[in-house]
Amino acid sequence: MRRNHVVNLLSPLGPSEVRGLNLAEPMDGEFLSEIKTLWQQAGGLLIFRDQQLNQRQHIDFSRQFGTPFGSPDGVPLQDTVSRYLHPDHPEIYRVSNQLDAAGQPRGRARAGTYWHSDVSFRERPASASILYAKEIPKVGGDTLFANTQAAYAALSEAMKDLLAPLTAVHDFAVAAATQYAQPVVINGDFDGTNQALHPVVRQHPDSGRKSIFVNPGFTSHLQGFEKPESDALLNFLYGHMTRPEFIFRQVWQDNDVVMWDNRLLMHYALADYGTEPRYLERTTIIGERPAPGAIGT
Ligand code: SIN
Repeated sequence: MRRNHVVNLLSPLGPSEVRGLNLAEPMDGEFLSEIKTLWQQAGGLLIFRDQQLNQRQHIDFSRQFGTPFGSPDGVPLQDTVSRYLHPDHPEIYRVSNQLDAAGQPRGRARAGTYWHSDVSFRERPASASILYAKEIPKVGGDTLFANTQAAYAALSEAMKDLLAPLTAVHDFAVAAATQYAQPVVINGDFDGTNQALHPVVRQHPDSGRKSIFVNPGFTSHLQGFEKPESDALLNFLYGHMTRPEFIFRQVWQDNDVVMWDNRLLMHYALADYGTEPRYLERTTIIGERPAPGAIGT
């Protein structure tokens, strides 16, 4: 594989753009491990510019980072979003504000217009999400990313000690109740297959760094707390995690492929572009069970 790509740092938090790399070409093991290291150094957010991938190539690139949700050897995403999957490639979740020729949604409109970490309501939430921009508005439709490792590092030692033993319930029902129209929501999504208990502080399997792993989109409550107590602590954390200094704003360019790490980033898609067409395709990699960050490590 050609290795004359250029990497440009876009934020002190690490996000970087990569130019001159064709993701359709297979990577040998050494190069793949360089890209994985670069991804970590980039705070879990790489933007590969100017890509021309078909769906198969997008999936093949993704599989180098793990098994995608929806693949034959994986597990599906929640039923409610099944209507937005690519008809020939169930590994691909489509985001779109347009209708197809038959008047059906080309993808999920206003997808992810709330802070969340993909699929955090499963026992094994997403590690990477790999989102390919095929059509984007001239202005607007940016995606915000909050670095939850940086947010964790900025907490007082007293707050870190308080959070260390805590667990939180993540439940797709939280988003289903607030973000999805009722005819779209499928009852099976409330049967417990989309609910999981996770440590509030998780440790990244590669870097060992800790992050705050709760999000307003899917976290319902802190285990063992009264609701007002849980709400107060979660609201403090959400305010802290979304402080401007922890945020990177992805201003999309056509044919960007953005690969982010849900284990240390929350994201929020801004729906500020009216009826201008926006169409993206996403693969989502099944991650590991979140490991708690032990006290004092
Ligand atoms: C998502 O994956 O949550 C959607 C992100 C976007 O549309 O920018």
